[in-house]
Amino acid sequence: MRTKNNNELRIENIGEQVTLVGWIAKVRNLGGLIFIDLRDRYGITQIVVEPDNKYYEVAESVKNEYVIQVKGTVVERSNKNPNLPTGDIEVVCEVLEVINTAETTPLLITDQTDALEDTRMKYRYLDLRRPVMQKNFILRHKAMMAIRNFFDKLDFVEIETPILGKSTPEGARDYLVPSRVHHGSFYALPQSPQMYKQLLMVAGFERYFQIVKCFRDEDLRADRQMEFTQIDVEMSFADEETIQRIIEDMLVAVFKETLNYDVKTPFIKMKYDDAMNLYGSDKPDTRFEMLLQDLSDWASKVDFKIFQNILADNGVVKAIIIPGGAAHYSRKEIDRLTEIAKKYQAQGLAWLKYENGDFSGSIAKFLSDENKQELKVSDGDLVLIVASTRDIANTALGALRLTVARELNMIDESKFNFLWVVDWPLFEYNEEEGRYQAAHHPFTAPKAGDEGKLLTDPDKARARAYDVVLNGFELGGGSIRIHDQKVQADMFKAIGLNAEEVERQFSFFVNALKYGTPPHGGIALGLDRLMMIITKSPSLRDVIAFPKTANAKCPMSEAPTPVSPAQLKELGIKVDE
Ligand code: AMO
Repeated sequence: MRTKNNNELRIENIGEQVTLVGWIAKVRNLGGLIFIDLRDRYGITQIVVEPDNKYYEVAESVKNEYVIQVKGTVVERSNKNPNLPTGDIEVVCEVLEVINTAETTPLLITDQTDALEDTRMKYRYLDLRRPVMQKNFILRHKAMMAIRNFFDKLDFVEIETPILGKSTPEGARDYLVPSRVHHGSFYALPQSPQMYKQLLMVAGFERYFQIVKCFRDEDLRADRQMEFTQIDVEMSFADEETIQRIIEDMLVAVFKETLNYDVKTPFIKMKYDDAMNLYGSDKPDTRFEMLLQDLSDWASKVDFKIFQNILADNGVVKAIIIPGGAAHYSRKEIDRLTEIAKKYQAQGLAWLKYENGDFSGSIAKFLSDENKQELKVSDGDLVLIVASTRDIANTALGALRLTVARELNMIDESKFNFLWVVDWPLFEYNEEEGRYQAAHHPFTAPKAGDEGKLLTDPDKARARAYDVVLNGFELGGGSIRIHDQKVQADMFKAIGLNAEEVERQFSFFVNALKYGTPPHGGIALGLDRLMMIITKSPSLRDVIAFPKTANAKCPMSEAPTPVSPAQLKELGIKVDE
């Protein structure tokens, strides 16, 4: 239907006869000449319809988003548009066919939109027609091609694993699918293909990858969807270093292919404890400093009861020091920061401003001259202090560090800061359930020498786990796995599973370990998160074609919807109203 696309014509094409198709982006009737901006996936070409054209009336009747075909001749524009790749030329229309009409669209098909999120989601096919969205999905495709080519070259095999399977314990709730044939039994949609990929190692494939949909029933956030895509990888006979190097090289390939950006390798490695103590986060954003400082020694000399009590109780006094923060944050603004700290379970937020050689703020009156001298601050600094347990002080200050950095524009948005977080604890304690749970998942191997601690000293056991972090987002997580039946059995015991529960949930997996399981390990990266960062989008929704809203709905199809009584009966299901 076309001889050229709408981004192709240049000054060299002058005089050519062309046929173009596309959607009408804009019509301007200048009382004589009618100008049409014709848009397709590739770009925009200006069409001009002259008054003596026999299709002039048609041109007068067309509206935005009509689908048309134009035949005409390329001419040089008198009024060139340097912002448009085709801005040197226009096509003088000879034939104009309306292929389809369009109603007025509920949102404008332009890069900038003020349409509400709900409108964008309801008319997603129109939202996706916006050039900026098309760019995102074309980049996503490029990234996927780069990933597949990269792994193919290294002998990795892409193998699909079941969507209707058995639940894998990744920590979220499962989506369940009722079986029509076996009433009362359910398939679980995979939270990840974790067990399957390990079974593929038992099967001897050695190098597996898959770009795969995963499903987790968890609260949705800007960087979390119920249905998302992983770049899932598993390797036999490989250690942490090998796997990490391959993933670094894969990211180099993806950034080269999508942004022509040179990612520097190797990525730095940061211990989990350092990430928590210095950045207050297990996914540190290293694009700016403002590290957490331990003021416990200093605070022990301050005559302030709360500090003394908390230190006596094995707590810590920690702070962030915000350069220029004193002028920026009023008392009311600091109250707002205090509320953030409280969300992370801090009891409160102490603060000090240092201006013109003097301190003011909530604890200024408790400071002796010596206290004042010993606190290392510069003029204009704001010091935010949390006294609490180490974990609470770290996470509360970590959250404040990010909030303040965003508010004071301290983040260099042009950077891509990758790092590995290593030396993770193997377990975390679940206060609500009063038991240990796997910090990653229960197939993660303990560090050499820590195998004996699983049942005796779980707090001290470290994992052969690693997360790859980009700009403060957890991009991926993986580990070397347990390949020894005895260690796997201890692991299940340590997280409170009895023999019967192990048998019910994992017998097929535990059985497989008995038949010559090679040492193996792997990782999974969130493709959506990766694309969100590459496209500098504020939400995963900008890189997933048909996403769900924060309340787990699809406004376009209205899923989820009730089903007919007949369907329920067939499945043997009664709905509790
Ligand atoms: P994990 O649970 O860390 O590991 O997931 C790996 C990566 O998947 C992405 N991700 C998500 N992206 C969008 N929405 C979500 N709800 C969501 N949940 C996770 C993140 C995350 O880093 N089987 C293990 C991997 C392994 O050990 O090999 C796993 O799934 O980017």
